[in-house]
Amino acid sequence: MTRRPIIAGNWKMNMTPAESVILSQGISNRYARGWDKVDVVVCPPAIDLRSVFTVLDFDKSNIDVGAQNVHWEPSGAFTGEISIPMLKDVGCSWCIVGHSERREMFGETDGDVNRKVRALVDAKMCAIVCVGESLSMRDGGDAVQFVCDQVRAALAGLDAQEVAFVTVAYEPIWAIGTGRTATPEQAQEMAAAIRATVAELVGQEAADAMRVLYGGSMKPENADGFLACPDVDGGLIGGAALKAEDFAALVEAAA
Ligand code: G3H
Repeated sequence: MTRRPIIAGNWKMNMTPAESVILSQGISNRYARGWDKVDVVVCPPAIDLRSVFTVLDFDKSNIDVGAQNVHWEPSGAFTGEISIPMLKDVGCSWCIVGHSERREMFGETDGDVNRKVRALVDAKMCAIVCVGESLSMRDGGDAVQFVCDQVRAALAGLDAQEVAFVTVAYEPIWAIGTGRTATPEQAQEMAAAIRATVAELVGQEAADAMRVLYGGSMKPENADGFLACPDVDGGLIGGAALKAEDFAALVEAAA
């Protein structure tokens, strides 16, 4: 099955609103033929969303904008949190969920991830659900089991139609921001296992249609190996998404 590739940039806690405009303009200026074959998504910090939209909403590109996190409740006494209605009001159509940095540093649980996915799907927003193992799990031979359990927990209760709003990003924790990447073979093995798990949950057709991304020190120099994997449909990019020329090169590699 041919799946449309995704290149998503996770800016993490980088870029002031003023800097986000410059980076967005840099990306937008590089928009070229072929980009329309890729879902291109940038996920800036929440405070930058409006600034980024001032560039990307009115230009010629079809670059989408996403958030890095969201709360599952629509409103209420949740100091510091951001809701789905707020994201939709700004124009966001995508949201990253369950990044390992949120799981590790902010105590986000599989249950939280599932509640966020459920809320996003109910709002017809696209969720990029991050999963990935630690180095000790990989060395211990438990990586596939662990990651597939994360997928089961994240997608619990979703049916095949709802899974159409979900993309899974496989991000081995040991490869994030370290310069060390998984091999394309490791990425393919895990992406295939993730797809098989989704097939168990909601059927083969929905699993075949779902996009699975690789993330972890992906950059223009190493992207081709990942993008050639039959079950890898693009990348969730951290560091390389902060340079317009690198992000653009990644989109072109996926196109
Ligand atoms: O969300 C993105 C990933 O954490 C990858 O980050 O490309 O800086 O390793 P990285």
